[in-house]
Amino acid sequence: MMLLLLLTFLHTSEIHAMDNLNVAFRWKVVDFEFPNDTARENAITKGIFIPENNLPLGVEVYGNRMFISVPRWKSGVAASLNYIMLTDPKDSPKLRPYPNWEYHDLTHTDESGMVPPDKIVSPFRVRADSCGRLWVVDTGVADILEGSKVLSKPKLFIFDLNTDTLIRSYQIPEDQMKKDVSFFANIAVEENGCDDTYAYLADLGHPGLVVYSYKKNKSWLVKHHYFHISPTAGEMTVAGITFQWADGIFGLALSKPDEAGYSTLYFHPMHSFHEFTVSTKLLRDETLATDPKNFHEFKVLGSRGPKAQSGASFLHQKTNVLFYTLLNLNAVACWRTTNPNYTMESQGRVFMSNETMVFPNDIKVDANDILWVMSDKLPVFMYDKLNPSEYNFRILNSTVADAIRGTACDSKMVMNPSIVKNITKNITRTTSAVATAGSSPIRSVNVQMIWVVLTFAALSLTTR
Ligand SMILES: *[C@@H]1O[C@H](CO)[C@@H](O)[C@H](O)[C@H]1NC(C)=O
Ligand SMILES: *[C@@H]1O[C@H](CO)[C@@H](O)[C@H](O)[C@H]1NC(C)=O
Ligand SMILES: *[C@@H]1O[C@H](CO)[C@@H](O)[C@H](O)[C@H]1NC(C)=O
Ligand SMILES: *[C@@H]1O[C@H](CO)[C@@H](O)[C@H](O)[C@H]1NC(C)=O
Ligand SMILES: *[C@@H]1O[C@H](CO)[C@@H](O)[C@H](O)[C@H]1NC(C)=O
Ligand SMILES: *[C@@H]1O[C@H](CO)[C@@H](O)[C@H](O)[C@H]1NC(C)=O
Ligand SMILES: *[C@@H]1O[C@H](CO)[C@@H](O)[C@H](O)[C@H]1NC(C)=O
Repeated sequence: MMLLLLLTFLHTSEIHAMDNLNVAFRWKVVDFEFPNDTARENAITKGIFIPENNLPLGVEVYGNRMFISVPRWKSGVAASLNYIMLTDPKDSPKLRPYPNWEYHDLTHTDESGMVPPDKIVSPFRVRADSCGRLWVVDTGVADILEGSKVLSKPKLFIFDLNTDTLIRSYQIPEDQMKKDVSFFANIAVEENGCDDTYAYLADLGHPGLVVYSYKKNKSWLVKHHYFHISPTAGEMTVAGITFQWADGIFGLALSKPDEAGYSTLYFHPMHSFHEFTVSTKLLRDETLATDPKNFHEFKVLGSRGPKAQSGASFLHQKTNVLFYTLLNLNAVACWRTTNPNYTMESQGRVFMSNETMVFPNDIKVDANDILWVMSDKLPVFMYDKLNPSEYNFRILNSTVADAIRGTACDSKMVMNPSIVKNITKNITRTTSAVATAGSSPIRSVNVQMIWVVLTFAALSLTTR
């Protein structure tokens, strides 16, 4: 019965393949490439390195390197910005500090407890541009889960990836944030040539978007209601842990520029089910962007439906596909931006797993059209305890073509909403059969797939 149902589903919706992501790297506990064993032991003795307190979070790929942030949630983070070589044959490569250990030495503070301004304290996500620059937004706050220590002002570091030297650092002006409330956890970079480049910094704590012009070396703050959380979206359950957060604007993804050179910024607060858009033509113009009269230049695109809170997102400009994480569903999904509708049914499910995709925390597509996702069980790390004898952190990858094959984002796919709805009805009817399914490999795959469809589609019925 179940298999029949699944086959019908596969046939009717022309699903050829899904869940094409593979684990490229994985770690039980992360370790770092110290200069030598003595240096490592000293760091452990002094509490500078407490292995179980290190949780990788942000990823970015440039050339043959993958950059990995390890924010200072707890004390004992050896280095908060690192890289590994993509060619590293190891399953769990050691992290190498970027650009070097010096930048991560926080042992010297001034009388007010601040580290020198060139130190990297705690970046969450970074972005590499095609001009060979790495854009790092540093929150400046350490040991968040142990009471929080402000070690520096939030700032933007820009590194030259060819020489691994700092090109520029820019402190976010105090009147563009709120002390102890602002939190800059994500960044998008728009190149209009290497000189006229803009960085968009999302402040999830005091919802706002700081727009930085590289050419002008100046920034401005943009505020909008759509940067705020939706009060019914604050609760999530991940790995059996239920918690409430209130993170505002978070996901930032830029479309291919139009003829005039402007992109559409797709954005969403973490605690919301909606996706929004705004043209960078507005954002790049300080006067227009900060004028409340332009409220309606920001648009509501649509809703992904209940449980569909999303964190990081990325738009692959060659295919116009928007990839995003689904934090509450252990999943990665997509939406083709050429689709006129943004509804639950028009979303494509890329990958979902209660094992390898628990809390997908960052997502990027590199210059070679490879999709990369970091999953890291963050809620377990925050509210419970990670088990050091099992894999906790994973980086999964696939080509974009494989990732979207058979989904609503595949240009060859035609999704019939009526079929989707009928399948949903049928699956809803057979839920009990699913729950008691046997444990043969083929069966367990089916259970997972059906659960996915149920979660994505059945909820849409209940909300209509
Ligand atoms: C180990 O590395 C540290 C830091 O770079 C250095 O000061 C020390 O001399 C090295 N020790 C040995 C035995 O190489
Ligand atoms: C950019 O502006 C900041 C202060 O707003 C200043 O400290 C820095 O030197 C400037 N950098 C460049 C390259 O002009
Ligand atoms: C978009 O939604 C409208 C109204 O529900 C529907 O008629 C149309 O077929 C949809 N288009 C696509 C591409 O799904
Ligand atoms: C995924 O990453 C691994 C490790 O770098 C690499 O060997 C593999 O080719 C990548 N997969 C794709 C589809 O690029
Ligand atoms: C879906 O079900 C409705 C009635 O429940 C039926 O009229 C319609 O033809 C079905 N669509 C498909 C594609 O099976
Ligand atoms: C749903 O179930 C009915 C009766 O069991 C069947 O006739 C129909 O083809 C199914 N529809 C789909 C889309 O699986
Ligand atoms: C995944 O986990 C959720 C709760 O964490 C559970 O409801 C669901 O049944 C699980 N799915 C599978 C396929 O194990």
